[in-house]
Amino acid sequence: MSCNLYSNNPLLAGSDNEGVHLLMKLDGKVVIVTGGGRGIGAAICKAFAAEGAHVVVADINEGNAKEVASEVGNEAMAVALDVRSQQNARTMAERVVEKFGRVDVLMNNAGARVIKGLMQHTQDDWHQMLDINLGGPFICSQAVLPQMLKQESGNIINVASIASFMGRPNRVAYVAAKSGVLGLTRAMAADLAGKNIRVNAIAPGMVASPFNQSFAEADDTGPAWASENLIGRWGQPEDIAGAAIFLASDDSSFINGSEIKVEGGWLAARSRSGEVPIWDE
Ligand SMILES: NC(=O)c1ccc[n+]([C@@H]2O[C@H](COP(=O)([O-])OP(=O)(O)OC[C@H]3O[C@@H](n4cnc5c(N)ncnc54)[C@H](O)[C@@H]3O)[C@@H](O)[C@H]2O)c1
Repeated sequence: MSCNLYSNNPLLAGSDNEGVHLLMKLDGKVVIVTGGGRGIGAAICKAFAAEGAHVVVADINEGNAKEVASEVGNEAMAVALDVRSQQNARTMAERVVEKFGRVDVLMNNAGARVIKGLMQHTQDDWHQMLDINLGGPFICSQAVLPQMLKQESGNIINVASIASFMGRPNRVAYVAAKSGVLGLTRAMAADLAGKNIRVNAIAPGMVASPFNQSFAEADDTGPAWASENLIGRWGQPEDIAGAAIFLASDDSSFINGSEIKVEGGWLAARSRSGEVPIWDE
């Protein structure tokens, strides 16, 4: 691994890398990140590359995918992918195996959201939400699994949401799809028992990615939504990367069919009535 990979690492900025022995968590691993063109996916691509992975940035927005791939380096590859298309997913898997010879990690991160009232959701909205958020992880997993089964190892990480655990108004199809992601995660882990292929999920909370930019910047929802978790701030895309590295690496080798919530304690406690902890005597 060449040293220039470390030049963007703030931990090493300004230090003399010579003689520094770094144990990278994903050294040489081939990882695909769907929806890697921006937001959480882009942050994960950068974090994976900094841990030594060869990253495949797959996104419906090919321009964004190429930009992220050129930023992360380390032989990163950009692929145009619509996760709703089985053919797209198969072509992606073929191209990745052609270039790198294997697929170690699939991060099913691509997602989209419709915000509309229950009765305003059209059938098309319903299908789009289910097809992108739930069908996408299924189709992309099916596309890479023949290679993972052949190499007798693999790791699939699905991106769920706090919406996988609780209802939220005006998001009926998104909540249904993200709840399904947890079921998909468990069912795939069960199907892959004994195959040395783990399947887990990450459930982010409120993250100030482009997905949520308008809410994060608005005078009402910006501070209000930040205060709904126990840390009291919006998550940043980079906040999700640590859990992604952990699940993608051997550090989590006994975690399977499970999920990690990365949401600042949003789901741990509620105080919608305005009740606050008492500290004064
Ligand atoms: N931002 C949050 O607060 C939040 C919270 C919980 C879960 N999530 C989930 O995290 C994941 C990433 O979200 P984000 O905040 O980075 O969103 P984002 O909108 O900023 O990025 C999503 C990426 O997915 C890509 N994409 C959308 N549809 C696609 C398709 N059909 N095929 C391929 N790529 C497609 C987009 O082009 C984009 O690059 C999503 O699954 C989202 O549901 C986000």
